[in-house]
Amino acid sequence: MLQVATEPKKAVAMENDTLLAVDNIEVVYNEYVLVLRGLSLEVQRGSITALLGANGAGKSTTLKAISGLLKSEDGKITRGDIKFDGQIISNQEPDTTVRSGISQVMEGRRIIQDMTVLENLKLGAFTRTDRANIADDIDLVYSYFPRLKERTGLAGYLSGGEQQMLAIGRAMMARPKLILMDEPSMGLSPLLVKEVFGIIKKLNRDFGVTILLVEQNAAMALSCASHGYIMENGKIVLDGTAAELRENEDIKEFYLGGSGERKSFKNIKSFKRRKRWL
Ligand SMILES: Nc1ncnc2c1ncn2[C@@H]1O[C@H](COP(=O)(O)OP(=O)(O)O)[C@@H](O)[C@H]1O
Ligand SMILES: [Mg+2]
Repeated sequence: MLQVATEPKKAVAMENDTLLAVDNIEVVYNEYVLVLRGLSLEVQRGSITALLGANGAGKSTTLKAISGLLKSEDGKITRGDIKFDGQIISNQEPDTTVRSGISQVMEGRRIIQDMTVLENLKLGAFTRTDRANIADDIDLVYSYFPRLKERTGLAGYLSGGEQQMLAIGRAMMARPKLILMDEPSMGLSPLLVKEVFGIIKKLNRDFGVTILLVEQNAAMALSCASHGYIMENGKIVLDGTAAELRENEDIKEFYLGGSGERKSFKNIKSFKRRKRWL
């Protein structure tokens, strides 16, 4: 009698709730400048995930590819896919992306300088249909950033730290599932950096909002992220848990305050030892 072969049971995969999956994307500016060269990363729902790398690596381009803002700079995803909450969102219009639950805090705190704090916050809620709840959310933002409430003048007169807080508060006003943050520490004093990162962590904990955090300040980013990716020349060259990355000798040397000039990961011996980095 024939025996029916039974498939060996596959190990049950770890519970994995991916909110954002960037799969092997290529991004081209002006139809010929190739900036992202097969970049992949995943962001788990509810996490803070850090994307680190030197100036010019392609971090901002990655965020703009996700938010759809590439289009305004004549950039395009020419290969690969971006999936958010189960839907393909590659090359989507930015306002559609906001409606689907993604807010971006741009590099350099792009708030509207000649509008008040309150007007900036209201602008953050432009895609919402539940207009009745907006006033409560403005109060909620003020409870996280009490200093903003005292500032009644134009946003252009806010200090750098206050402008960064306003940019984050404005992103929260869309009630996003995912916030893309581009170098929130840029140009801030160490004390303010600590304060801003403390608030980022608190927003993540209190609202479960997922955060993809782009930073050059690797030490600070890895202190609040659970997972991190390192990118170089338009690709991911290393990823791991924040704890793994903090302990990694090469990261220590190149991103966590090692001395001397920053070399490429490709030139370090231990980089070559580990296949998955290549
Ligand atoms: N709008 C654009 N048009 C052409 N090239 C661009 C544009 N924006 C960025 N780049 C180029 O893409 C590369 C990556 O830039 P960017 O994503 O801003 O890096 P990062 O944020 O890591 O500093 C750089 O070489 C930069 O000159
Ligand atoms: Mg940048």
